[in-house]
Amino acid sequence: MKFEKVGVLGTGQMGAGIAQVAAKAGCAVLMADISLDIAEKAKDKIGKQLKKAITKGKIDQTEADRILAHLTPVESVDAFDRVDIGIEAATENIGLKLELFKRMDDALKPGAVLATNTSSISITLLAAATKRPDRVVGMHFMNPVPVMKLVEMIKGLQTSDETFEAVRTLAEDWGKTTTSSADYPGFMVNRLLIPYLNEACSALMEGVGTISDIDESIKLGLNHPMGPFQLADLIGLDTVLAIARVLHNGFADPKYRPNALLVKYVEAGWLGRKTGKGFYTY
Ligand code: CAA
Repeated sequence: MKFEKVGVLGTGQMGAGIAQVAAKAGCAVLMADISLDIAEKAKDKIGKQLKKAITKGKIDQTEADRILAHLTPVESVDAFDRVDIGIEAATENIGLKLELFKRMDDALKPGAVLATNTSSISITLLAAATKRPDRVVGMHFMNPVPVMKLVEMIKGLQTSDETFEAVRTLAEDWGKTTTSSADYPGFMVNRLLIPYLNEACSALMEGVGTISDIDESIKLGLNHPMGPFQLADLIGLDTVLAIARVLHNGFADPKYRPNALLVKYVEAGWLGRKTGKGFYTY
């Protein structure tokens, strides 16, 4: 399998990051969202990131122009008929992902691969909604995508070995290191990360420490680059909660019960950096 043309569906922080990484590696990338305007704005944001990288001397203008020339915002997923792989990077909502997967399946040519950047939802379930379940695979990037080295690869029950290995090689060609996870809720990274972030909310709710005390303790005590609240704000509290719910429902185990304070913040619309307020104000 050769992946020269890539379609990225969903151009938020994850989708835009994936598009940037693919374009940098030389793939022709189509970017689709709910409108052309949104996809174009995502490309502009990538342009701004690249400008920063030029200022820091990380890349030159020619390289930035080359990356941008590989990115084409399009009206909708219907333009994905010529891509070799479609990567879905929409919000963490099962109904939405199922609908988008069906649309990508209809749009893509026979033989093309469907990948999802889901951070917790069953690859097996998404694959079953398509006419090519053996060509569906999980490709879980970390945020911020251009910076983080890992792509967690997930094999659904129906994923063929050929698809899995080809997409794993693609992620490595894009400069990432891959790990391989079985298809259980949260896979590996979020199986461990989300209970930790959820527990930080419980500690805060019980008054064990303030937001900054807890963050400083983890940063300095464990040498993490960010404390749990800084990280939750980066990921987005709605995403943290959505993954917590997938773990809770998927394992039917009360130990994964989402914390009530986390739920309250999401109800308030305090979703983290993207809304200007989460545990911190931006
Ligand atoms: N996009 C592109 N580049 C970015 C970026 C972004 N959104 N944010 C930061 N960077 C780049 C900066 O440009 C900088 O690049 P250079 O070193 O080339 O100059 C580099 O990252 C470091 O950034 P800063 O100096 O501004 O800040 P920092 O040193 O504090 O690092 C960080 C920022 C990389 C985010 C770091 O704090 C970190 O690694 N935090 C942990 C991130 C993490 O755990 N991510 C995983 C989240 S979980 C997940 O994604 C899975 C899920 O499903 C929920």
